[in-house]
Amino acid sequence: MSSMNKNFVCIGLQNPKSASNVASILRAAGCYGASSVFYTGNRYRYAKEFNADTQNMHQKIPTIGVDDLLAMAPKGAKKVVVELVEGAVPLPDYQHPQNAFYIFGPEDASVNPELVSACDDVVYIPTHGSMNLAATVNVVLYDRLAKSDFDRSIEFVQQSRDNNNRLKAF
Ligand SMILES: C[S@@+](CC[C@H](N)C(=O)[O-])C[C@H]1O[C@@H](n2cnc3c(N)ncnc32)[C@H](O)[C@@H]1O
Repeated sequence: MSSMNKNFVCIGLQNPKSASNVASILRAAGCYGASSVFYTGNRYRYAKEFNADTQNMHQKIPTIGVDDLLAMAPKGAKKVVVELVEGAVPLPDYQHPQNAFYIFGPEDASVNPELVSACDDVVYIPTHGSMNLAATVNVVLYDRLAKSDFDRSIEFVQQSRDNNNRLKAF
């Protein structure tokens, strides 16, 4: 898929600590149509093949270890740091770029100041205390979906649900 496509989402993770968090992020990437996940640091690199990723999502969503997240920003993508930062835009007020590279910090620290100053936008979610990393990724991708012209068809529900789910609301 070309990074110049209308809606293009990539995720960058700065030195994620927990393999189970990354597994949840990869599942979110699949559900919301993000195309790839870049990460720095060795902590996930070592944990990648262990069993937290029970659906083997890292084999379905390109999951790429890199030295420099900024260098991996897809062509034309706006770099959006998601972090509790003074002066950031509250996510409910944010208009997502069509072509976005969302960058998240690690569970036990914050996004590096160099990344914050090199990005195009900085957004935060006005929560009481910080959220879990994977929860944050889900919230950001959901917020993007909710503000988009998403597919409301029954066919979409039918193709997304489990095979054994034949429930109807009415
Ligand atoms: C558990 S947080 C780390 C602690 C966080 N840097 C802090 O100052 O409280 C892990 C990552 O999730 C994201 N995150 C968690 N809660 C957030 C919030 N309310 N707004 C924006 N980003 C958040 C950030 O990318 C953060 O680096």
